[in-house]
Amino acid sequence: MKIAVLPGDGIGTEIVAEAVKVLNVLGLPLEMETALVGGAAFEAHGHPLPDATLQLAMQSDAVLFGAVGDWKYDKLDRPLRPEQAILGLRKHMGLFANFRPAICYAQLTDASSLKPELVAGLDILIIRELTGDIYFGQPRGRRIATDGHFPGSEEAFDTMRYSRPEIERIAHVAFQAAQKRGKRVTSVDKANVLETFQLWKDVVTEVGLQYPDVALDHMYVDNATMQLVKAPKKFDVVVTGNMFGDILSDAAAMLTGSIGMLPSASLNAKNQGLYEPSHGSAPDIAGKGVANPLATILSAAMMLRFSLNQPEAAARIEAAVDNVLSQGLRTPDIYSEGTTKVGTREMGDAVVKALA
Ligand code: IPM
Ligand code: MG
Repeated sequence: MKIAVLPGDGIGTEIVAEAVKVLNVLGLPLEMETALVGGAAFEAHGHPLPDATLQLAMQSDAVLFGAVGDWKYDKLDRPLRPEQAILGLRKHMGLFANFRPAICYAQLTDASSLKPELVAGLDILIIRELTGDIYFGQPRGRRIATDGHFPGSEEAFDTMRYSRPEIERIAHVAFQAAQKRGKRVTSVDKANVLETFQLWKDVVTEVGLQYPDVALDHMYVDNATMQLVKAPKKFDVVVTGNMFGDILSDAAAMLTGSIGMLPSASLNAKNQGLYEPSHGSAPDIAGKGVANPLATILSAAMMLRFSLNQPEAAARIEAAVDNVLSQGLRTPDIYSEGTTKVGTREMGDAVVKALA
């Protein structure tokens, strides 16, 4: 089983190192190869997604990804910015289905910014379409007017678009995921204003007819945002486009106490996947040894389950994470009084020990 390990920037290197440590003690025949991506690749090779990195990712069974980005690259031409690396990987590998679970661990109920009774037992799954929408609409890639920003002019634009097949395939993913959980899908759109999302709503409704055992409802994105904060446990599976999914998944993540806890999976039609924490590169705390590695460690568990067909190993990692939380170990992002504050490495070591 071949894994491309792409730590990236900021806290990416620290948290991925802990996940690799955990993978190494499972006793599985895993072949891991590391490559540069994001700002780190730009520094070394002048491009955030060098060809060698892309080839390695495409030829692997799965990609374990850290994070990319740093404010110091904000002035670069857009095609050279670190974020283009993850967008390029999603596009080139066809990783259209992004799973972002938001689960509130019982041990962390107090870390949420919402009242404990609103989040206790929370278990929702956001499914974000990842290769369409305004992220990839024209005029992406035009040199003369990079991404709609005409240098020296006071106008800029991006184009929102979806095609029927793109919506159909993500809708099937959402209904099938719901069949394995609470059997409810909420499709989030903005059909009251945008044509793109009227098509979205129509197609999701049509696909839903093939899944009579799953209840489907539709919500406008503004209302969905409100409901997510008001009564998050009402949701089961939420399916939405690239842009709304980006925003809603950060909001959902925070309900659970910390975005530092949440893994994610991005899958293509061949079940090849890219696994990354839901959080970013956090340059403000990079190199300090305080980042929470659990989201990345849990992403490695998702990788074992979805792309490498090792559900038992995945469950072992998840149980080990549960165990270290029960021991009261906390990185600063999830720390509360009466618990034990630990750093990135200590947290990784604790998971390794719990596995043994
Ligand atoms: C995410 C991130 C990315 C996105 C950025 C880094 C391009 O915010 O994975 O949610 O917007 O998709
Ligand atoms: Mg995001």
